[in-house]
Amino acid sequence: MLRAFEAARQAGAEIPELVCYEKQTDWGGQWNYSWRTGLDGYGEPVPSSMYRNLWSNGPKEGLEFADYSFDEHFGRPVSSYPPREVLWDYIAGRVEKSDVRKYIRFETAVRWVSYDADTEQFSVTSQTLPTAADSTETFDYVVVASGHFSYPNFPTFAGIETFPGMLTHAHDFRGAEGLKDQDVLVIGSSYSAEDIGSQAYKMGARSVTASYRTQPMGYQWPDGFSERPGIERFDGNTVHFIDGSTKDVDAVIVCTGYLHKYAYLPEDLGLRSPNNVYPDGLYRGVVWNDNPKLFYVGAQDQWFTFNMFDAQAWYVRDLILGRSAMPDRSERDASIAEWRKRFVALADAADEIRFQGDYVQDLVNLTDYPQFDVDGVVEIFLAWKNDKAADIMGYRDYTYTSVMTGTRSIPHHTRWMDELDDSLERYLQTSG
Ligand SMILES: Cc1cc2nc3c(=O)[nH]c(=O)nc-3n(C[C@H](O)[C@H](O)[C@H](O)COP(=O)(O)OP(=O)(O)OC[C@H]3O[C@@H](n4cnc5c(N)ncnc54)[C@H](O)[C@@H]3O)c2cc1C
Ligand SMILES: NC(=O)c1ccc[n+]([C@@H]2O[C@H](COP(=O)([O-])OP(=O)(O)OC[C@H]3O[C@@H](n4cnc5c(N)ncnc54)[C@H](OP(=O)(O)O)[C@@H]3O)[C@@H](O)[C@H]2O)c1
Repeated sequence: MLRAFEAARQAGAEIPELVCYEKQTDWGGQWNYSWRTGLDGYGEPVPSSMYRNLWSNGPKEGLEFADYSFDEHFGRPVSSYPPREVLWDYIAGRVEKSDVRKYIRFETAVRWVSYDADTEQFSVTSQTLPTAADSTETFDYVVVASGHFSYPNFPTFAGIETFPGMLTHAHDFRGAEGLKDQDVLVIGSSYSAEDIGSQAYKMGARSVTASYRTQPMGYQWPDGFSERPGIERFDGNTVHFIDGSTKDVDAVIVCTGYLHKYAYLPEDLGLRSPNNVYPDGLYRGVVWNDNPKLFYVGAQDQWFTFNMFDAQAWYVRDLILGRSAMPDRSERDASIAEWRKRFVALADAADEIRFQGDYVQDLVNLTDYPQFDVDGVVEIFLAWKNDKAADIMGYRDYTYTSVMTGTRSIPHHTRWMDELDDSLERYLQTSG
């Protein structure tokens, strides 16, 4: 969002006063790894759900910024699936270049936002964490960009209180090294279950069992990795599944996703939605329909990520600057209804990817964000799905071509399965 405004300012536009509140000590959001779990040093909930040894689960060619390529950042081709520190470096490189740090108040948590219909302004109460100093400021617009993968959806299971081993939600999982020689259960059948299960396998777990509620992931898992249906109950170390089978496990990682939770927003401004690609109540996926001076960026479930957030931010910026007109309520309602109709008809992941591609293209067409080959990115995601189906433990060794620069990525010097060092320094080595 800051980058969008700064791009306009550098092109000669007058931009409004900007304040960005960030409760962590640095930028990067999820990519700003914290070893802490639960609460941070100020007693604030830790936002990041990332772990040591997390590598991108989609090819970097799918998320590349249209105005800052990987070639520009690294000066040479790199592989398609970078580890977390490398992607953090890429994100940081762009914002450093565009000089937006000056707008950010770090270590400042937003506590409450309210809207005054008479003045048509928001009051934002924040707290500077090191000093505990409170302040309340007024704004014409508020953009909610605080993420939605930070507050665990943590269901209960019959008998779980009798389980004596390590029990954690994916949000608090920080690494699989301790799972060596253990029998591990992951609950869920989406990205966290897939990736944390794979991490456990990579780090030498004796067995990995994944329990699905609706449908299995269905990959060709290696020996020792299997899928089971839902859990009937726990009885100490023994897990009873609804098909009557049982499994004794040492560790349980609950990978059941996250809640849209905005503790600083009142009921009439806070999005409540399942994690999906078109949450209801958001015009063009970003404008809070009940109060179009409030915006959300990144509130969708995500196939596209960084470049979609850009497309959203550029559009929100243009609405705020008055470059794009805010449609009236009936037009917004009709647009939401049309996209939601398409959304509920989506049959599978490939449909979702194409749908999100259309959504991104729609936004890019409305602004001066650099046009890029969105259909080409859709094709990359579809190829990635096939590559995972063919080789779930080896797909991160595959390479793709950037639609931004035409650069073909190079294979990483070491197979993902054998690479235990996820540092930037190691990643940039030219041989293993
Ligand atoms: C485990 C995990 C792995 C992922 N891996 C990938 C991947 O490989 N590739 C990919 O493209 N995407 C991945 N994603 C998706 C991820 O959501 C995006 O890449 C991206 O980080 C989302 O950015 P965001 O700014 O919307 O939210 P976040 O990254 O969550 O950032 C939100 C920021 O808001 C701050 N904040 C929250 N509340 C407050 C408050 N009250 N006051 C002040 N500041 C506040 C937080 O401190 C944080 O810095 C992953 C997500 C998770 C959870
Ligand atoms: N390496 C990486 O890059 C990496 C690693 C991990 C996560 N991520 C990212 O993190 C984000 C979140 O992914 P996520 O997998 O945590 O969440 P998610 O995609 O929202 O999936 C939640 C999963 O939990 C299951 N579930 C929910 N409630 C349940 C219950 N009561 N009992 C059993 N199962 C239940 C869901 O099953 P149903 O199908 O039945 O609803 C679904 O399988 C994604 O953007 C993902 O890409 C990335």
